[in-house]
Formats: sequence, structure tokens, C-alpha cells
Amino acid sequence: MGFIKKFISQTRKPEGFLGKLMVNSMNSGHAKMADWGLSHIESIVPDEIVELGCGGGRNAGELLKRYPCAKVTAIDYSEVSASMAADYNRAMIDAGRCKVQQGDVSALNLPEGKYDLATAFETIYFWPGLEKCFAQVAKVLKSGGCFLVVCELDGADGFGRKYEKLIDGMKCYTTAEIEAAMKAAGFSAAKADHHRDKPWIAVIARK
Ligand SMILES: C[S@@+](CC[C@H](N)C(=O)[O-])C[C@H]1O[C@@H](n2cnc3c(N)ncnc32)[C@H](O)[C@@H]1O
Repeated sequence: MGFIKKFISQTRKPEGFLGKLMVNSMNSGHAKMADWGLSHIESIVPDEIVELGCGGGRNAGELLKRYPCAKVTAIDYSEVSASMAADYNRAMIDAGRCKVQQGDVSALNLPEGKYDLATAFETIYFWPGLEKCFAQVAKVLKSGGCFLVVCELDGADGFGRKYEKLIDGMKCYTTAEIEAAMKAAGFSAAKADHHRDKPWIAVIARK
């Protein structure tokens, strides 16, 4: 495997030294897109948040800042991501407002009906079956809870195809595919937005 493919593939499940480098770069590289995504849910006031596929934990930290009364549980199946997310949010963990758990979104080991908000930034490309994983998200949300999915590839642009070729198992979805999977997983309503001039998408659903 060439170095570029090896490095880019670390986005799927960061491991070892290259994984640490990738997680660091994702924390800064995804911040603008994540903040654009969060601008869609400014009217929500969640108490309990679950941040799925949390990577290096920057977005969990941002949620803790934006919602100063909320608690955030951050989940990632990569040991490297979970450990770096815990380091990033150490002060909030010590304050009792943040937990980081290693876990897979396809089999969430979390209390049912607990969360007001679930977020997923730049991660659903790698989830093993959208509908099955979205059903896991629905299970842990409260009735009326909100699910925000944000991606920087909209499933229609050339970049997405390029990355799909480089990263085994990656799939970029259109907003229509994400909305359909949300509805099939039991969400009652879904709404999508596309960035004005970038292939960024945000899809918001209610349980
Ligand atoms: C491209 S990174 C994005 C990280 C972070 N959300 C961000 O925006 O910077 C994708 C992350 O999703 C995690 N991930 C992928 N599939 C997962 C799954 N099935 N369960 C939990 N985490 C998963 C990966 O380990 C990785 O840390």
C-alpha cells in the first residue's frame, strides 16, 4: 500500500503513529465544517449529548462550550481516537461533564432513551450499514431527540469518488440517501441543507 493510501485510510479507524497524526489533523481540519453543521441546531438546548465517531474530541469540546449545562458522551471504536479525545477533554472529564468510551456505533452500549442530541461529524462514511447504525442512534435518543449528521463530501462530487477508491469500505452518501436511512431507522422527520459553495451537507432528524 502506498504511503498516501496508508495515511488517508487512517480516517476510517486511526491506529498507531500514523493514526495519531491523522487524528490531530482532523481536529483542526474539520473544525469549520463542524461549526457550520452546529449552526443548524442553535435553537436546541440539550442536557445529554452523544457525539458519535468522535475522533480527536474537538467537536465534543465544542459541544461542551456551546451547551454549558450539558453533559457529553463521546464514542469512537478506535483506541487512538478515544484516547486522544479523552486527553483533549481532560478538564471536562474531571469536572464530570464529559465521558469518552471506546465503542462501535453499530452496537451502542449506552442507556436507551437517554440523549437529547446525537451528533456525527465526518464519520457515517465508515459505518457498517446506515439504517442499522441509525436505528442504534434512535434507540439511545429520547423521544423528540435530535440527530445531526454533518459531512464534508455530499456523495455527488468527484472528491468523494476519489476518497472511496483510496479508503476501503468508505461510502459517501447523498442527503436523499441519508434522509431515507433516517426515516427507515424510525426517525419521524428529516431535513437537509447543502453549503452554498462547498460539498458540505448537514442532515437533521427528530426521533
Ligand atoms: C474521519 S474521522 C472523523 C472524526 C471526528 N468526528 C471529526 O470530525 O474530526 C472518523 C472517525 O469515526 C470513527 N468511526 C468510524 N466508524 C465507526 C464506528 N462504526 N463506530 C465508532 N466510531 C467509528 C473512526 O474511528 C474515526 O475516529
